[in-house]
Amino acid sequence: MNVVVSIGGSVLAPDLGANRVAEHAAVIRDLADDGCSVGAVVGGGGIAREYISTGRELGANEIELDTIGIDVTRLNGRLLIAALGEAVVPAPIETYEEAGEVLRNGDVCVMGGVAPAQTTDAVSAALAEYTNADLLVYATSVPGVFDADPNEDPDAERFERITAGELVDVIADIEMTAGSSAPVDLLAAKIIQRSGMRTIVLDGTEPERVASAVRYGDHDGTDVVPEGVGDEPTYWAEDER
Ligand code: UTP
Repeated sequence: MNVVVSIGGSVLAPDLGANRVAEHAAVIRDLADDGCSVGAVVGGGGIAREYISTGRELGANEIELDTIGIDVTRLNGRLLIAALGEAVVPAPIETYEEAGEVLRNGDVCVMGGVAPAQTTDAVSAALAEYTNADLLVYATSVPGVFDADPNEDPDAERFERITAGELVDVIADIEMTAGSSAPVDLLAAKIIQRSGMRTIVLDGTEPERVASAVRYGDHDGTDVVPEGVGDEPTYWAEDER
């Protein structure tokens, strides 16, 4: 199967600890060893936010700040590449065309950001759409999609399963609230909707959760299912653990 895994910066390298990066790399390597085509997209996390905030104080404009953010996502991507070892690209890939070529050659592809005015949520969705991925997994610091921002609203409830159209509506509502953090951004949600891609949003702080979600569809997050889809996909193995 073809999967795109989006790993938030705060999930991959919350404190730049090597162990966590190595654990995420091990999950990706195992999936690739099992014949899975894996595109990994890495975010910038707290370090990107610190760089952006310093740049803002120094008077950089928003596009310049986005470019700083992109550079940090690629730095994180380089850490993942270092941990992956063989059969991976030597540097983060910067275009979808090149990413497609890497995956067609059977290597693991690692990307960070690609262009200003978006986040790696959208890059992940676009990579999954471009490469016709069977599954897109967001490993985030939030345990799924909620009906409100769980950091702001103690009554926020997690959706187990929603359609892509519902995802767009929920994210649009959350993004209207100043300062709130959505599990994926609106552009990503719209790409997911138009491409009809099966997507999972889960708490990625334990990398093994990504492996279970990809292998068995087993997770505690939110399934985003294309409109009109009923049956479970055939690529999921029976969980025989
Ligand atoms: P992230 O994807 O990490 O954004 O990119 P985020 O929303 O802070 O993600 P979390 O919180 O880790 O999930 C970091 C920054 O890099 C720039 C943006 O400024 C973004 O906020 N960026 C990233 C781009 O401009 N374009 C991209 O394609 C990717």
